[in-house]
Amino acid sequence: MNDNLEALIHHAATLYDSRNLLTTEGMTIESIKAIFELADFFTNKGINEANRYDILRGITVISAFFENSTRTKLSFEFAARRLGAEVASFQTQLSSISKGESLLDTLGTIDAMGADIWIVRHSQSGAVELMSKNSNSIFLNAGDGQHQHPTQGLLDCYTLWRHWNGNFEGKRVSIIGDIEHSRVARSNFPLLRALGCEVGISSPGTLCPHSWKSFGAQRFMTASMAFQSADAVIFLRLQNERMENGLLPLGGEFAKYYGLRIHQLSDNPHCIVMHPGPVNYGVELDAEIGLAKQSVIREQVANGVSIRMAMLSVLAAKSGKILHR
Ligand code: CP
Repeated sequence: MNDNLEALIHHAATLYDSRNLLTTEGMTIESIKAIFELADFFTNKGINEANRYDILRGITVISAFFENSTRTKLSFEFAARRLGAEVASFQTQLSSISKGESLLDTLGTIDAMGADIWIVRHSQSGAVELMSKNSNSIFLNAGDGQHQHPTQGLLDCYTLWRHWNGNFEGKRVSIIGDIEHSRVARSNFPLLRALGCEVGISSPGTLCPHSWKSFGAQRFMTASMAFQSADAVIFLRLQNERMENGLLPLGGEFAKYYGLRIHQLSDNPHCIVMHPGPVNYGVELDAEIGLAKQSVIREQVANGVSIRMAMLSVLAAKSGKILHR
């Protein structure tokens, strides 16, 4: 392995203080920066097929998505393969879950085949932590209910880190939309705080968590107000799959007050526009915004591969599965 890469992995693994990646809560500024520096190694080399590594050679990664995904699932699988891992993809619909097998029995069954690292998405908050407590494998949370989506938070902040040359001092980031049901917001808040940003929020009252004051965030009544005062904004879609009926008077009200229209971009031409995806264009963002210069939505997707390569390397190193083998 390249000496510089080995040093970056070792440094990040020393600072990152957990065997799994379940949450961004409690991550220190030092560990976040070390992970970003490691991700930068992969980004700067290029995350394409030409740049393969053997960091995870001999390691079996299980990609288990009990809830739908496009970017997180593929991004993790590309990341694991480019690090040299064997990747097995578990598909809920084709599995024995449909015959009544429980989550923990599924876990034990696949562990018995020799799983080393699990990447798990689940619709229930806490499901990944439960699995981690019932297994000796390593777990990366790829999104659990409305609880956490740590690699999304990391890739969002890493995208800003690259735009701002690692300096978050005095930067203001607002998160706009359905915050109540958002695991992305819950993963971003601790990271943005640790990095020293001022955080803003804007969402309908019924989609704003009761605990919003504990986030240390300033609340804006409309997306437009939040956008005009921010250096970056993260828009969130309505997560209808986690929502009870009756939380919004009309769908159109959400788009009007908590969405961004193309003509509004010029109100703050230096503000970076982000969205974790999938975007419901025409609701939270006009379709043209996705292609506008201020939008970094595709960059977020690309950076996701680097961040996931970094976290897979760090966790494998912490477990002693790589380096000096
Ligand atoms: N951002 C995100 O989690 O997207 P997917 O649901 O497509 O993975």
